[in-house]
Amino acid sequence: MSRRHRNKSAARKITRLPGDRTNADAITRMIRVDQAGEYGAARIYDGQLAVLKNLAAVAAVRNMAAQERRHLERFDKLVAERRVRPTALSPLWHVAGYALGAATAMLGEHAAMACTVAVEEVIDEHYRGQLEALGDADAGLAAIVADFRADELEHRDTALKHGAAETPGYPLLSAAIKAGSRIAIWLSTRI
Ligand SMILES: [Fe+2]
Ligand SMILES: [Fe+2]
Repeated sequence: MSRRHRNKSAARKITRLPGDRTNADAITRMIRVDQAGEYGAARIYDGQLAVLKNLAAVAAVRNMAAQERRHLERFDKLVAERRVRPTALSPLWHVAGYALGAATAMLGEHAAMACTVAVEEVIDEHYRGQLEALGDADAGLAAIVADFRADELEHRDTALKHGAAETPGYPLLSAAIKAGSRIAIWLSTRI
C-alpha cells in the first residue's frame, strides 16, 4: 500500500469515530423517547378507562391499553439492557398523559377516539422516521419499532371505526393533540 493510501485510510478511520458515536447517541435518544412515548400512551388509556366505564368502546380501549403495556414493558427492558438514561420528564407524562385521556373521554367516546387517532398518527410518523434513520444500523431495535408501529396503526383504525371523526370540532381537537404530542416527543428525545 502506498503512503498516500495508508494516510487516506488512517484519516478515514479517525473521521469515522465521531460519526459512530453520533450514531450510538442517536440510537440512545430513540430508545429514550420511545419508552417515554409508550409510557405516555399507557397513561392516556389509563385516563380514558377511568372515565369511560360502561360505554361500547371500553373493550376496544382495554385491548389497546394492553398492547401499550406490552410496548412499554419492552422499552423498559431495552432501557435497562442498554443502560439508557430514561427521560427526566416521566412525572410530567404521568400527569399529562392521564389528563389528556381523561379530558377527551369526558368529552365523550368519540372525542376519546379522536385523541387516539391523533396520537397514533403522530407515533406512526415518529416510528416511520426512526425506521428510515436506523436503516440496518440496529436490527433489534428496528424489529421492535416495526412491530409496535403496526399495532399503533391498528389502534388508529380501531378508533376511526368507533367514530373518532364524528367528534364535534374534530380537526381542531386533532390538530391540538398532534401539536402537543410532537412537543412531547421533541422534549423526551432531549431531556
Ligand atoms: Fe404503543
Ligand atoms: Fe397505540
